[in-house]
Amino acid sequence: MKKFFKILFSLFLGFIALIIVAILLFSSLTHSNNTERKYTIDVLKAKVSDSHKALVVYQPSKMSSLTKDIAYNIAKGLNSKGCEVTITYPGKKVSADISKYDIIVFGSPVYMGSTSSVLNDYIRRVGNFENKKVVLFLTGANDDSIPLNSLGKPIHNTKVTKKLQFKKGDETKAYNLGCEIGEK
Ligand SMILES: Cc1cc2nc3c(=O)[nH]c(=O)nc-3n(C[C@H](O)[C@H](O)[C@H](O)COP(=O)(O)O)c2cc1C
Repeated sequence: MKKFFKILFSLFLGFIALIIVAILLFSSLTHSNNTERKYTIDVLKAKVSDSHKALVVYQPSKMSSLTKDIAYNIAKGLNSKGCEVTITYPGKKVSADISKYDIIVFGSPVYMGSTSSVLNDYIRRVGNFENKKVVLFLTGANDDSIPLNSLGKPIHNTKVTKKLQFKKGDETKAYNLGCEIGEK
């Protein structure tokens, strides 16, 4: 009987430990999605001089390079159509003046049903997207339209051209999207 209670107690401790690990993982992922990353900027130069310009702003995933891979594949697709593409993370150091860009792409991973608040803050700061082609993407495991709708909420004065969700293995789909939106 004593042995039985010992096993039961060990199982209980194991269960509690599992819950603590899950809570720590969930809060670490949510925190990373809502935390500004170190300012970095990358430019894919166009081969022609009178190129149109695109801005890709994405919040990277925590555990893999999925969101980065999707963002860069869209950027490469745009670049293949003659676009100069600027790629950066959202944050206070990124200029809210988007006047020189024709195409704007925003992307974020989804954790616990939420997209990056840092990205939404940046979108809110830009505010006016008049005459811009705006594309929104997220990376997530579930087919849930709520996060995608919430990502686009602060966008005013323009119709979002495309809203898409990507999963692992969708890199070619992302490249093709870049080619499609990069057509003049
Ligand atoms: C703890 C956790 C929570 C997640 N929550 C969601 C979610 O609510 N909706 C969704 O579509 N995907 C969800 N995902 C999947 C991630 O969005 C997907 O794995 C992400 O695009 C890639 O980032 P990762 O490499 O950091 O996992 C979740 C993943 C983890 C690990």
